[in-house]
Amino acid sequence: MTTRERGQVFGELAEEYDRIRPGYPADLVTDVLEQAGPGPVLEVGAGTGKATALFAARDIDLTCLEPDSRMAAVLRRTVPGVPVIESTFEAWTPDRGYGLVISAQAWHWVDADRRNTLAHAALAPGGLLAPFWNVFLLPDRDLYTALAAVDARHGLTGRQSPHSLHVDDVPDAPRPFAEQWPELAGIEKLFTDLRTLRYRATRSYTLAEYRAHLHSISLYRMLDEPRRDTAIDDTIAVIEAHGPTIDFAVHTYAALARRP
Ligand SMILES: C[S@@+](CC[C@H](N)C(=O)[O-])C[C@H]1O[C@@H](n2cnc3c(N)ncnc32)[C@H](O)[C@@H]1O
Repeated sequence: MTTRERGQVFGELAEEYDRIRPGYPADLVTDVLEQAGPGPVLEVGAGTGKATALFAARDIDLTCLEPDSRMAAVLRRTVPGVPVIESTFEAWTPDRGYGLVISAQAWHWVDADRRNTLAHAALAPGGLLAPFWNVFLLPDRDLYTALAAVDARHGLTGRQSPHSLHVDDVPDAPRPFAEQWPELAGIEKLFTDLRTLRYRATRSYTLAEYRAHLHSISLYRMLDEPRRDTAIDDTIAVIEAHGPTIDFAVHTYAALARRP
């Protein structure tokens, strides 16, 4: 993936991203803030502010990093008064010791070889790293199978596809931290108190909403436009044959790691 593609993949549709993407559970915000160390909060890859607005409402000293200027423009409108620095995490130098670093659906975009040490450097001793993601799970086995075939036809494989998991694929008991979090590989060398939080919700999309949602996902945005349109048309046709909506279980997972 080139730098241009990485930087522009979401900004190309910043307003639409903000309209269609889901937010995050209020309980997650409460739980993460309860665990945070004292001091200011840093958000990495704030996007248009889907998580930022929830944290900013809790009366905290919040600063955001967002490298894409079009995402940052929407973010400034979403959370007026919250400082927004247009930078990647890699290119930014910490100005003080933070009590909490959050990252919603963005930690995997930060350089895998550097993100643990960058988080360590941004946090004060006792500070908390808390990246989190929404994970989409299909409860309908027939639809899951049909969409897996569509994804395979278009080369849309891997966990980035919102159709890659059936609810039965997720164990009820929490998995060991290292198994749950390949995105945080090696974190135990620098951090302690490793924990996973999970929140469960459901979400239903009309066909039009789901079409817009697919357009906002990087897996689809990385396709050239004709291939993207064909893959999305094919996906929507299969869903339409099953019914007027697509229903998901949405699990939100947060990884917690404390700087000693
Ligand atoms: C999937 S979006 C998530 C946005 C927002 N946090 C949310 O929950 O909707 C990923 C965001 O990470 C940003 N990003 C990409 N690479 C980054 C990096 N190296 N450092 C910080 N942010 C980055 C992108 O510009 C994009 O806004």
